[in-house]
Amino acid sequence: MEILILLGAPGSGKGTAAGFIAGQGGFTHISTGDMFREAIRRRTAAGREADRHMGGGDLVPDDMVMAMIRERLSWDPPRTRYVFDGFPRTVPQAALLDRHLGKESGRILAVILLDVPSEVLAVRLTGRRVCPACGAIFHTANRPPRQEGVCDACGGSLIRRDDDHETTIRRRLDVYRQRTEGLVEYYETRHLLRRIDASGPPADVHRDLARHLDLPGEAAPC
Ligand code: AP5
Ligand code: MG
Repeated sequence: MEILILLGAPGSGKGTAAGFIAGQGGFTHISTGDMFREAIRRRTAAGREADRHMGGGDLVPDDMVMAMIRERLSWDPPRTRYVFDGFPRTVPQAALLDRHLGKESGRILAVILLDVPSEVLAVRLTGRRVCPACGAIFHTANRPPRQEGVCDACGGSLIRRDDDHETTIRRRLDVYRQRTEGLVEYYETRHLLRRIDASGPPADVHRDLARHLDLPGEAAPC
């Protein structure tokens, strides 16, 4: 297996970028956040446990995340290429992933850090609307759906995510600084990290991603 990792603060555009990469480059998109939200929706035991952490903006415990990832990766043929969005998120998760890849003869192609100033993050998160049916991501100002409240892709009703409220957003940004930013050094020392200025509009970010990753679509729509 080959893996691209998208690293970045809440609201930096990981999900949006992963959707673009998956569409352009034949990568399977894996978002641990989406997987936990689906487990919460289905009221599984893992979902109930994840909800206790996610609701307040904290991270789900590493062992639970890794168990879910191992199980998910076991579904696909060994040569699958993945784009990971939101995983790993702590240095112990990165070390567990390295161990898993060692066993499975997999490798990390690159780790893309989406760099966005913190004042922009809050605006992106408060204006985000998502489609729970198909996972499409919109923004009230930056990427509005054609019809307000309705998903362009599947016609589902758009919602605001439970953790996209002021207090939880602040907590998520703190947790990112405390627990996830250490991964920048982790991957820098392994010569895997590439930084992208992701503060511009989606079309600019996609063009830079396509250039860095040698994907076909330079000027693909956002
Ligand atoms: P997760 O779902 O991964 O959330 P997150 O990391 O907080 O990131 P977001 O999904 O909020 O933002 P994003 O970077 O994907 O941005 P998006 O593309 O949507 O995780 C949620 C929770 O699950 C965590 O808090 C934790 O509890 C738990 N969890 C998940 N993984 C875990 C793990 N590995 N370990 C432990 N716990 C875990 O874009 C945001 C908005 O901006 C959208 O409206 C979009 O339209 C807009 N936008 C995107 N790009 C641009 C652009 N270039 N210009 C303008 N607007 C843009
Ligand atoms: Mg996301």
